[in-house]
This record gives sequence, structure tokens and C-alpha cells, in this order.
Amino acid sequence: MDLILIGPPGAGKGTQARWLVEAQHLPQISTGDMLRAARKAGTPLGQQADGYMNAGQLVPDAVVVGLVAERLREPDCAGGFLLDGFPRTIPQAEALDAELARHGRKVEHVVALEVPDQAIVRRLSGRRTCGACGRIWQLEFDPPPSPVTCACGGALAQRDDDKEATIRNRLEVYHGQTSPLLEYYERKGVLRRVAGEGKPEEVRRRVFAALGSK
Ligand code: AP5
Repeated sequence: MDLILIGPPGAGKGTQARWLVEAQHLPQISTGDMLRAARKAGTPLGQQADGYMNAGQLVPDAVVVGLVAERLREPDCAGGFLLDGFPRTIPQAEALDAELARHGRKVEHVVALEVPDQAIVRRLSGRRTCGACGRIWQLEFDPPPSPVTCACGGALAQRDDDKEATIRNRLEVYHGQTSPLLEYYERKGVLRRVAGEGKPEEVRRRVFAALGSK
């Protein structure tokens, strides 16, 4: 299964991806996670991405496309993959189509998580991520054992781009540059829209039903 998760920042892509990866045994390719890892490691790519990410802007297409194309050529992607946070622009989607076509493949499933902007700001302000196991929590809707500690004992951190002004920039970027992808994939007949509100577990059931699995 070649699967793409699309949605505004904080729609729950990372949360749903964890369940999908487990159920479908797919490698998860999150461009946000890859860029954050590069930034943490201080690589030239990370240094290049840093300013864009802090401002809530997109990293240039050429940089991200190269990163994903390289990752898709790794052997674990031969049987399918889950893309989370890519593509985010029409040129990225076209580059992905071209890369897959080179291997006789095409995008088969695109799930769009739909969540209104007001809910996003509230969700992201309370997001905490475990530095040890990667588990994503939400202080109000999916609270960790303590505001600073994960169930695994790891320390929880708030993302640099989860400040209200940056969240609003990210939403603007989503509506301007990423939402045209919904029409792009609708025309290809592969888009499934899923309501992303309600408990994460309820959203999980809707996502799995949209994909025809339990
Ligand atoms: P990225 O890391 O991809 O961020 P994003 O798309 O803004 O998405 P998020 O990770 O913020 O949210 P999510 O949808 O995964 O939600 P989550 O499950 O965590 O990108 C970051 C930056 O990297 C970009 O701004 C850009 O600069 C750069 N970048 C990345 N990809 C790029 C690309 N392709 N091109 C160019 N630049 C790129 O959930 C959010 C919170 O809500 C959590 O606390 C969670 O617990 C909670 N939650 C989840 N579901 C629910 C629910 N149903 N109800 C209540 N709370 C919920």
C-alpha cells in the first residue's frame, strides 16, 4: 500500500500514522521528523531548514523532494510506504508521481484529515512529544502521566514551532500551498476525506474504514 496522509498542522497525521504503520507494516516517512532530526544533528540540510521551520514556512521543494526520493529508494519502501507531511505543494506531488512512475508505481490512497483552524491552535498549544519513544501527547485531550514525563519515563518537550504566531503562519501556508493538493488527488480518484475531530481513537476508526480495513 502506498499511502499519503494530508491535513493541516495538528490535524493528527502523526497520531494516526503510528496506528497505520503498526497495522499495515509500512515504513513511515515523515518529512517533518526527518528535517527535525537533520536540524538536531546540525547537518547542512538541518541548518538550511532551520529558519523556514521556525518561521512556519515550507522548506524549498528541491530540498524536500531530494530527501524523499532518496528515502523511497531504500529497500523497506519496496512493498509500500506511508508519507506523512509530504507532498505539501503541487510541484512536490508532481515530483512524487514522476519518482513512483520510474518504478511502475503510483499513489493509490490519500487520506485527508479535516479539522477546523480553531481546533488546531488549541491542540498544538498543548502538544508534547516524548524525546525517548516519540509518543505524541496532548495535555488536554490525551494527557501524559505528568506534563513533563511520558509513560515510558522519557522527557516530554514542546516543539519550537508550536507557538501561537507560528501555528497561524503554518495554517496560512497550509491553506495557500497545500490545500490545492486535495483537488489534485480528487481528480485522480484516490482522495478520501475523513473528519479529524473527536477522540483520536474515533478518528482512527474512520481512517481505517476509509481504507477498507479494521
Ligand atoms: P510537520 O512536522 O510535518 O508538521 P505539520 O504538518 O505542521 O504537522 P504536525 O506534526 O504539527 O501535526 P500532525 O498533523 O502530525 O498532528 P499530531 O498527530 O502531532 O512539519 C513541520 C515543518 O517542517 C513545516 O512547517 C515545514 O517547515 C517543514 N516541512 C515538513 N514537511 C515539509 C514538506 N513536505 N515541504 C516543505 N517543508 C516541510 O497531533 C497534534 C496534537 O493534537 C497532538 O498533541 C495530538 O496528541 C493531538 N491530537 C491528535 N489527534 C487528536 C484528536 N482527534 N483530538 C484531539 N487532539 C488530538
